[in-house]
Amino acid sequence: MPHIIFCGTSEEELDRRAADWLVERMAKPRAVVGLATGSSPLGLYRELVRRHQAGEISFKDVRAFNLDEYVGLSPDHPMSYAYYMKEHLYGHVDIDPVNTYIPNGAVQDPKEEALRYDTLLSTHGPIDAQILGIGTNGHIGFNEPGTDFSTRTHVVELTEETRQSNARFFSSIDEVPTEAITVGIANILESKEILLIARGANKAEALRRAFLEPPTSDVPASALQSHPNVTVVVDDEAGKLLKAQ
Ligand code: GLP
Repeated sequence: MPHIIFCGTSEEELDRRAADWLVERMAKPRAVVGLATGSSPLGLYRELVRRHQAGEISFKDVRAFNLDEYVGLSPDHPMSYAYYMKEHLYGHVDIDPVNTYIPNGAVQDPKEEALRYDTLLSTHGPIDAQILGIGTNGHIGFNEPGTDFSTRTHVVELTEETRQSNARFFSSIDEVPTEAITVGIANILESKEILLIARGANKAEALRRAFLEPPTSDVPASALQSHPNVTVVVDDEAGKLLKAQ
């Protein structure tokens, strides 16, 4: 079992605990962090910006790699993950933009871009501290159910469930891209330490399947069971089926 931090109903507590975890690991010289998007890490980024503005932390020496990006959205598209990172973190802290990496979804050849990104990760990695969210179907990054645990950065076709879940960020489901570039499960498992953030009742079953059932490619997050250093930070709702153990 991973180390689980239960944060009750306090979202602030969850954000603080996630920030404490990351900040501790960012203190290492030239730390390489892996960052995620979606709604789960938003409070973490808010807390990191607050601490930076209070003069408590600096990103000057940090290199950051994102997990994934939609194919077809340019970095200045408001729904792209590149835009998200600027809006919620990079635009408000002292990270050097040359030290921020994210797959480019607007290229002609996404497969070639996936390879380029994988090489970058191998050159700069391993990642010291990887932040993850989890999809309602157990995906991590954009590794959808059925993904082999040995996969590296690749182009994926998004499942209907993922497109539906993410449609809330777009004006309609038709605007949600059908493909993405994501680091693979093998890349994620190469990280030295992992923090998975989950909030809300709709994540409870995915977490149960990920950590309380035998690992299976049907639930990509279950690959994390083989990693020696995973921490999961949850609120009451997301953690309710793990707590029963
Ligand atoms: C998206 C992202 C994942 C993220 C997941 C959960 O599809 N590619 O990296 O973890 O969905 O998102 P949320 O935190 O908004 O529930």
